[in-house]
Amino acid sequence: MDDKIGVGLIGSQFISTIHAEALRSVADAQILAVMSPTSGHARDFAGKYNIPNHFTALDQMLAMDDIDMVVIGAPNFLHCDLTLRAATAGKHVVVEKPLCMNLAEADRMIEACKRANVKLMYAEELCFTPKYVRLKALLDEGALGKPVLLKQSEKHDGPHADHFWDVERSGGGVTMDMGCHAIEFFRWLNGRTAITSVYAQMSTSVHAAKTKGDDNAIIILEFENGVIAVAEESWTKLGGMDDRAEILGSEGVAYADVLQGNSIQTYSRRGVGYAVEKAGITAGWSFTMYEEIWNYGFPQELEHFVQCVKHDTKPLVTGEDGRAVLEAIFAAYESAGTGRKVPLPFATDADKPYKLWKRP
Ligand SMILES: NC(=O)c1ccc[n+]([C@@H]2O[C@H](COP(=O)([O-])OP(=O)(O)OC[C@H]3O[C@@H](n4cnc5c(N)ncnc54)[C@H](O)[C@@H]3O)[C@@H](O)[C@H]2O)c1
Repeated sequence: MDDKIGVGLIGSQFISTIHAEALRSVADAQILAVMSPTSGHARDFAGKYNIPNHFTALDQMLAMDDIDMVVIGAPNFLHCDLTLRAATAGKHVVVEKPLCMNLAEADRMIEACKRANVKLMYAEELCFTPKYVRLKALLDEGALGKPVLLKQSEKHDGPHADHFWDVERSGGGVTMDMGCHAIEFFRWLNGRTAITSVYAQMSTSVHAAKTKGDDNAIIILEFENGVIAVAEESWTKLGGMDDRAEILGSEGVAYADVLQGNSIQTYSRRGVGYAVEKAGITAGWSFTMYEEIWNYGFPQELEHFVQCVKHDTKPLVTGEDGRAVLEAIFAAYESAGTGRKVPLPFATDADKPYKLWKRP
């Protein structure tokens, strides 16, 4: 394939803006269309990013022959249906995290993409975040010895859109929304060794009026090679997004802080126009990010997938990885529901993770 890879974006709000910004620096890609169901949104988005086509109906976008791949930036409960429709139309698929709502959906998505001979990438940008890529390289070269304890956490004061708070559309709270990042991060760092158990503690501590989902969670994973991993996730942490990781090894230790550790420490009496995702009030001291999208690895992630499509290679993070993450998420909610450590493999026909925690 010599031509540019034609891209169709599904969604036009928060993450799709990041996708569009990120794709600007992917030389082999061209965004040919954007689709969003709300009247006017796709048109405005197309105007802003100079995209030649915009649609409110997905099938119209999928009918465009020049589109090779789609990037799904729609709410969780739509991921499965949108993937199935894109695969049936012969488009390669990048789907945002979490992969989908349940394990049966995950199986259908993986199967549909296989049958249609299209690639499915599970969009976990932490596997492309430059600081975390370097962290993994330290581990891989042996500088830290044998890994013993991995930690990762993402924290902010809660999502920006209704569907995240509604467990019927999201499937769960912060464990589903941000725990998914930590779980795939640990699997990637640990050479995709199998997870053998999950223990989790969850609460709805601040946002009970807004959601039935968990807004704070601690998740402990055990891996087959003896590594223990601890994820801390919060929707109640003020002062902007936090994303940090730690590796404790037999020969060393490393700490990586993606946002505060890379930011400009700023004092402003009047406040900063934009400091970092979900910064809140910025008068006084704040952590002002630069190149936030690059520091998170989004252009690198989409560049990778475009090259996979172009050269027919396997994505670094697949639908199967997304399914493994979802299995651990279900196990985490089961653990929080029962108070017990849950062994993996974990099978469940629950349609949404939160239901294993909030039992009737
Ligand atoms: N990787 C990350 O760090 C990250 C960050 C934020 C969101 N996300 C994920 O991205 C997805 C979208 O989140 P968001 O923050 O952009 O939400 P958002 O509410 O800002 O945007 C959602 C978009 O989905 C569109 N949409 C709604 N129904 C649709 C349909 N039937 N078909 C096509 N599009 C439809 C909406 O019009 C809107 O444009 C979620 O799954 C979320 O978990 C990932």
